[in-house]
Amino acid sequence: MIHVADPLVTLAACLAPAFEAVAGRAGIDPVVRPSDRADAQANGALALAKELGKSPREVADAVLVQAKQLTGVCSSIEVAGSGFLNIVFDNAFLGDELAKVAADERLGVSTASRSRTVIVDYSAPNVAKEMHVGHLRSTVIGDALVRLLEFVGHRVIRENHIGDWGTPFGMLIEHLVDLGEDEAADHLSLGDLDGFYKEARAKFDASDEFKERARARVVALQSGDGETRRLWRLLVQLSTEYFNLVYSLLGVRLTDDDIMGESAYNDGLSSVLERLGKLGLLAESDGAEVVFPPGYTNRDGDPLPLIVQKGQGGFNYATSDLACVIDRIERIGADLLLYVVGAPQAQHLSMVFDVARMAGWLNEPAEAVHVAFGSVLGSDRKMLKSRSGETPKLVELLEEAVARAGDAVAEKNPELPEGDKAVIARMLGIGAVKYADLSTDRIRDYVFDWERMLSFDGNTAPYLQYAHARICSIFRRAGVDRASLRSVTPTIVEAQEKALALAVLGFDSVVADTIEKYSPHRLCTYLYDLATAFTAFYEHCPVLKADDAVRESRLALCDLTARVMERGLGLLGIDAPEQM
Ligand code: ARG
Repeated sequence: MIHVADPLVTLAACLAPAFEAVAGRAGIDPVVRPSDRADAQANGALALAKELGKSPREVADAVLVQAKQLTGVCSSIEVAGSGFLNIVFDNAFLGDELAKVAADERLGVSTASRSRTVIVDYSAPNVAKEMHVGHLRSTVIGDALVRLLEFVGHRVIRENHIGDWGTPFGMLIEHLVDLGEDEAADHLSLGDLDGFYKEARAKFDASDEFKERARARVVALQSGDGETRRLWRLLVQLSTEYFNLVYSLLGVRLTDDDIMGESAYNDGLSSVLERLGKLGLLAESDGAEVVFPPGYTNRDGDPLPLIVQKGQGGFNYATSDLACVIDRIERIGADLLLYVVGAPQAQHLSMVFDVARMAGWLNEPAEAVHVAFGSVLGSDRKMLKSRSGETPKLVELLEEAVARAGDAVAEKNPELPEGDKAVIARMLGIGAVKYADLSTDRIRDYVFDWERMLSFDGNTAPYLQYAHARICSIFRRAGVDRASLRSVTPTIVEAQEKALALAVLGFDSVVADTIEKYSPHRLCTYLYDLATAFTAFYEHCPVLKADDAVRESRLALCDLTARVMERGLGLLGIDAPEQM
């Protein structure tokens, strides 16, 4: 693998010895940042001045004298203001770095220094309930994280922790029996999961006889009664078929093989209780078996328990999550557990992790992280609802995205053959939904807005996809083989060429940063900046009309931009059509 660092990283590495020589000790951060004044600025003198009892300017001057390794990387370096170093990169250096990226399949993105076994727990809808936009968010963010983590060389295991267990299955199975299996199947395969659930609930609330049957069913289910299990599996299967419809429309990686629902941990539940008991961590609270992890209190200021066994002997969500931690660490050998779950479950997960740590199941270097996200809101800034006021059906939502994108494509490019139009509409519509979700800092709520997400302007998928398609069309018009450009060393002259070069060369850093923070919006912002840099370049620097050598150099820059854009979108799970 060819390693090409972000020029800012190279610069920091070159400057560090100069700072260290001045400081008389190792471990000094030159604090390099991109800058509007020059290409980059190093602010390390500020912190060091305090340590040395000198003025920042004196320190910066001394660093400048020491900074000899910079020839070849920078064309100018000077002290400015109250002790900043303003640095301009050498154009030939940038050209050489670009050539290395061009020759690299990975476009300069390095693999992780330590490969980990990562479990990504995402999507996790509930059986016989409509998947809601929260599950959509989890699915989209989780899928992007899976792709990013795999790309940098981690062993990634996807787990879809579906809600397929618990007391509601008593009433759901009885409702299924009442309807008859075929009728129930019709119902559920239409994706009317909420309707089915509500009917069952209504009967449960209205009839004591039904309630009794439902209770008996739960017991039969838990004791492993064959016929009850068969009916339960049928419910699970009908629901997962519906989930798969959503997954295939979305184009995410999840398959049936990734399902590790709550029920998968049934056999581990009693052992959770037993192990906690042996460790002396169990307490009794209102007849339930609980653990009190320190630091949690309820509204009255009393310690908050994590309930592992209810009064009547049943286990619950927390118990299966504990069994799940044990399974992931002890059986699978994972050392990083990512939970892509909505922010409202923060306390639940934090308590589960703390109890797992207290029990010694979750030890360094293994760690568990709640990759939390905010809500999806409607234009009224309340939880997104469909027109009829119900939870919107995800399949319908995604179909609408594709239909709307189809209209946009037809308007933009009426000449496209119908077949192509349909394929592109799908890439655009699904891309728009995913990107709208990914491009907002995940912890924040975001407003689901068709107009905005499908716009060809602004920080949207169509804008990025369009930038990519536009470059592809340059190549079609030029009639050049893109691969032939990958041995060209671009010549950087214009400011817009340089800005684009720096953007392309920053890909490695941004991928690392996105993974470190589990925040796909960082990659989105980068791709948006890349597209913007390309637009500025394309407006100022003629490509096809330029003379041979310049034309080749600029085509090489175009090729690199398109490759980074396609790869970057791909890491987000978004397709990049070649025309649109
Ligand atoms: N099924 C849950 C829900 O819909 C999410 C499960 C998340 N994963 C977990 N290990 N608890 O809210």
